[in-house]
Amino acid sequence: MPEFGFATPSAAAAVADLPWAPLLVPKEAIEREVDRLLDEAPVTGLRDATGLRAASVVHPRAIDGIPSLTPVTEVTIHVLKPGERTPPRRGNHALLETTVSGEGTVHMGTAFRVERHDVWTVPPMQVYSHHNTGRTPWVWLCYSNAPLLRRSGGYWAETLPAGTLAVPRKPAVSVTGELGARYNRLNAPTHRLATAADLRGYEYLTDIEPVANPPRHWAWKDMAPYLPIHAGCNNDPAKRNIWLLYNPATERRQGTTPVHFATYGGAAPGTPPYAGARGHVHISASINYHIRGYGHSIVGGERIDWKAGDLLFSAPGWVEHAHYHGAEGWTVLTVQDHPLHIAMGSLLWQENPGDPILSLGNEDGQKGYVSPRQTGA
Ligand SMILES: [Fe+2]
Repeated sequence: MPEFGFATPSAAAAVADLPWAPLLVPKEAIEREVDRLLDEAPVTGLRDATGLRAASVVHPRAIDGIPSLTPVTEVTIHVLKPGERTPPRRGNHALLETTVSGEGTVHMGTAFRVERHDVWTVPPMQVYSHHNTGRTPWVWLCYSNAPLLRRSGGYWAETLPAGTLAVPRKPAVSVTGELGARYNRLNAPTHRLATAADLRGYEYLTDIEPVANPPRHWAWKDMAPYLPIHAGCNNDPAKRNIWLLYNPATERRQGTTPVHFATYGGAAPGTPPYAGARGHVHISASINYHIRGYGHSIVGGERIDWKAGDLLFSAPGWVEHAHYHGAEGWTVLTVQDHPLHIAMGSLLWQENPGDPILSLGNEDGQKGYVSPRQTGA
């Protein structure tokens, strides 16, 4: 058993200077890693002849051996050659994925084909497998909350025998049947105390009402008509500067997965860039994957130039940031651990320096913006 110690409590410690620094992973570095993965034999030792061709981006602050780009999020570059497939796998992580190039088929009970810029989810404990059904290498990014789970000691996953499509689930129990007569969440005891605080039976903890969370797929061809990609798009009322890829299973947490939201956003070619000198801050950490245009961001006072194909840890938690696109405008897939913070009640937001710090989800939120720092209608 290790020795314990005592330290200054968080309540008395400085909160500044702790965030991980922003980090740029240039397109060229991603392409070099893809080439290396294609040259190598797939990772073996798994219960499948194919295995994985994958590498996760490591932030220099991830010194505990857990590959991660932010304290919460791992971003993995996956590659498969035509015909290759990954072994079936499941885990309690929530995955959000997007195709960088090529195409493939994701098997998750059902099978669906995914193309460039598509986004899809792999829900917790869903058996999944990837199959390159195209003619070129399939490259995709996977955003996972595995680092947070591993750091908290709450990670579980397994690789399954080749060909496994699903793991049998416990059949639903009727609450009027023999098993249903036992305590469950519908008949468990509860007591309202004099202070209006509640006492609830243990069954409430172990018989949680399920919320269906099937795999979701957002096809790029279906989203693109709503995005300002071409010159003149700014006059089209159907298009907006930012869209949330909403998964109803996340309810008021406004997520794409239980942990992350994904948004597609940007501006049409010729749109003047943001004119302000200051940015905004939020507790959620933000990762931008740029798919069109070029520009720069000012993050914590540091200028970071980016272009299409670059992956950028663009906003560590509570670090001021602003984005300035170039003459071509930009299109960006942003992934943030925003739903996680809503679930924890910890999502703070400050749109402008000097504005009140809003506790989103706990009080009235930000209003009047269609995208950061532009007056909305
Ligand atoms: Fe932001």
